[in-house]
Amino acid sequence: MRVLVIGSGAREHALCVALSADPAVLALACAPGNAGTRSLAEPFPLDVTDPVAVAGLAREWRADLVVIGPEVPLVAGAADAVRDAGIACFGPSAQAARLEGSKSFAKGVMAAAGVPTARSWPVGGRAELETALDEAAQHTGGAPWVVKDDGLAAGKGVLVTDDRAAAVAHGRAVLDAGGAVLVEEYLDGPEVSLFAVTDGRTVLPLLPAQDAKRRDDGDAGPNTGGMGAYAPLPWAPAELVDEVLATVLQPTVDEMARRDEAFAGLLYAGLALTSRGVRVVEFNARFGDPETQVVLPLLETPLAGLLQAAATGVLAAHPPLRWRDGAAVTVVVAAAGYPGAPRTGDPVTGADGEGVLHAGTALAPDGTVVSAGGRVLAVTATGSDLAAARRAAYERVAGVRLAGAHWRTDIALAAVERRIAVPAL
Ligand code: AMP
Ligand code: GLY
Repeated sequence: MRVLVIGSGAREHALCVALSADPAVLALACAPGNAGTRSLAEPFPLDVTDPVAVAGLAREWRADLVVIGPEVPLVAGAADAVRDAGIACFGPSAQAARLEGSKSFAKGVMAAAGVPTARSWPVGGRAELETALDEAAQHTGGAPWVVKDDGLAAGKGVLVTDDRAAAVAHGRAVLDAGGAVLVEEYLDGPEVSLFAVTDGRTVLPLLPAQDAKRRDDGDAGPNTGGMGAYAPLPWAPAELVDEVLATVLQPTVDEMARRDEAFAGLLYAGLALTSRGVRVVEFNARFGDPETQVVLPLLETPLAGLLQAAATGVLAAHPPLRWRDGAAVTVVVAAAGYPGAPRTGDPVTGADGEGVLHAGTALAPDGTVVSAGGRVLAVTATGSDLAAARRAAYERVAGVRLAGAHWRTDIALAAVERRIAVPAL
């Protein structure tokens, strides 16, 4: 089968690694790709925000299966355009991708499906912001305040703060930029990312993972797109995946089907394990980044066959997923300035070793690899357990050179030191 991956991040590099290991894949392309995907997959220039261009490339390259990585093309309708061209596509329709593209849409689906999530108060305009915070405070007792951009914001649209003035300022900034705002109940407890592959009916959960969203060690600093991740979660309750399948994933997929907006692709549940039970923090309509970089290396089941079964509606006939023993850790090496405006154009060396997945990289005309985005590399390793995977990942990080780079030194550390506790119900 000829497989075309759309996107250019470390998630797409991880997808290319896993797809190229599937003997059913006879040709692999990644558009636009990055300096790392080129060694595995044919690159093509592509404006991923243009569904017509995505479908055109799929047709010209004679793809049998298109796998769409990022949310922006999905929300723009790239999967619809590919399917309209008669080509199988792993990724939800634009309608269904609203589960990620609009937090208020997702809240409506969850309410209809009885899926547990944070209470929320929509903010219609500047004048309602303070009232929404007051209403939330009546329910939650006040800080911490959670103020969210309703639309896509690459993980940077949420402010969680004890400072009410900062919460107001964030809400105003989003409204002034033309966005919609949601005030939410604060969810305590550790976070889990659980991915599920679905064809719109059958739902197959993958291994739970956790990502590190804050920029700095100790979960300090601003929210980012993700600074590292690990899987599996040694501290997670044994029944977690079954419980989330029964109470979150299957009801959500069923509700979307009931609305005639079947969600086929990757449903990513961002969860908080709170003192009142599991709650959905957010849904995403695609593989998470950086969690994909740790989940896929542990998947033994050939990936292309799995994604094709989901894309063609025959997931019920797919065998159960098989997983490798051990654990995986990924550490994001970010450019100076990230998550604000990152510095780009710096040479990156030591980035061709095993497990070094590329995100924001490009090839300079002289053939050297240079930084081209905020998250530059996701340096990944597996090991017999989490401690071993963590050691191996940081050894690989030590081999990378990028001027001004920063990375967290504590990815997976709290889990290795058994400092993560799930609150008692
Ligand atoms: P989101 O954009 O909804 O994924 O939120 C990004 C991050 O902000 C989440 O992963 C959490 O760490 C944090 N967050 C979002 N909503 C809440 C909430 N209601 N309570 C606590 N933390 C939250
Ligand atoms: N890991 C966060 C995300 O993919 O949105």
